[in-house]
Amino acid sequence: MLTQTDNELITRTGPGTPMGEYLRRFWMPALLSKEIPEPDCPPVRVKILNEELVAFRDTNGEVGILDNYCPHRRASLFFGRNEECGLRCVYHGWKFDVNGGCVDMPSEPAESNFKDKVKIKAYPARDWGGFIWAYMGPAELQPDLPEVGWAMVPEDHRFVSRRLQENNFVQGIEGGIDSSHISFLHGGLTPHQRDTNTRQANRQNQPAATTGDPAPRFTVQDTDYGFVYGANRDSGTDEYYWRITPFMMPFFTIIPGQIGDADEKTYSGHGWVPADDENCWMFTYSWNASRPLKEGEHHQASDLEKEPRTLRATINKDNDYMIDREMQRTVNFTGIANGSVQDAGIQESMGAICDRTKEHLGTSDSAIINLRRIYLRGAREIMEGSEPFVPSQGSKYRLRSVSLIQDRSITFDETVPKVLNAATK
Ligand code: FES
Ligand SMILES: [Fe+2]
Repeated sequence: MLTQTDNELITRTGPGTPMGEYLRRFWMPALLSKEIPEPDCPPVRVKILNEELVAFRDTNGEVGILDNYCPHRRASLFFGRNEECGLRCVYHGWKFDVNGGCVDMPSEPAESNFKDKVKIKAYPARDWGGFIWAYMGPAELQPDLPEVGWAMVPEDHRFVSRRLQENNFVQGIEGGIDSSHISFLHGGLTPHQRDTNTRQANRQNQPAATTGDPAPRFTVQDTDYGFVYGANRDSGTDEYYWRITPFMMPFFTIIPGQIGDADEKTYSGHGWVPADDENCWMFTYSWNASRPLKEGEHHQASDLEKEPRTLRATINKDNDYMIDREMQRTVNFTGIANGSVQDAGIQESMGAICDRTKEHLGTSDSAIINLRRIYLRGAREIMEGSEPFVPSQGSKYRLRSVSLIQDRSITFDETVPKVLNAATK
């Protein structure tokens, strides 16, 4: 559990808040590259860290992320005209380049130098790994772009998507690093039937990823990119089934997925970016280092139908996530069909900002406790005026997850190095 003060501290991310300033030390995914697919295409509204912005791609292909509100009289630049290396406000024609400079002010006399004095808020933006990233922090602290796995492969080796989720970003992350819910939320059938499945899986010495040993043992270890956590489950009498996940600050995970050759596997994961304090963007990425992705290999979160303007899934809280009580009785644990909807539904069900003063955390929540410890430390350091822990991003983020069965004598410490991407060896 957290005190109300600490819960507020980690969940509020607007300008000037300690957590907001901490997150502004990192590059943030803001939208997908394909949402601004070509030079001079229409601008796109973006809301991240409680700031209303617009993204556009100029005539030269450069990407810009500007304040949504024109500095003249505050018209929205979403309605702007993207033309000749700038976004022109359609109210009185002021025009801004990707760096925020005012490059034309036709409403003022030709001899006026007023335009040289006006700037619009502009954040450094990069097209990287299928996302448009923004850096919203102090210029002198701008880190290298994180060399995340999906950015290090050719475009046809990855698939990315995003959608709105109607809860605070911390709830999303806590769901993402919560290994123990796999056996329940995403499990099949009733508890009795699930136990039967577990026994059958163990008898056959199969990895029981979703239906197996429901009480795995967890280990968490801090790293120079965030932390790594692992869960081992019994597999037969001599082996453990290990799932090990790197958590890359400030909010990226890589799902362990199925057992397979680590260099050949397709990996998927999510990053949760605050939109405002009660909504977040779930970015999803899938990639394969060794070959183009095949049809249907992307994460199922990317398959959800969305309302085009809001990017909210059409299966949402207004229709109770299409819960089917008969399915819940006879087929799966939730009665909700899509695993990603199961996650979103249950995370949203906790309230827009979960009241963490009323929780009771157990041993299976160790990764969540570690996340909060790191966030609280960073936010408090910001409040005290000292620089918080920010990983040197760059090549430190060349990581993947681990999913394997191995002899029980092989320890967590011996297995952790397998999260390193082959490219870093
Ligand atoms: S409000 Fe944008 S040019 Fe006047
Ligand atoms: Fe889940």
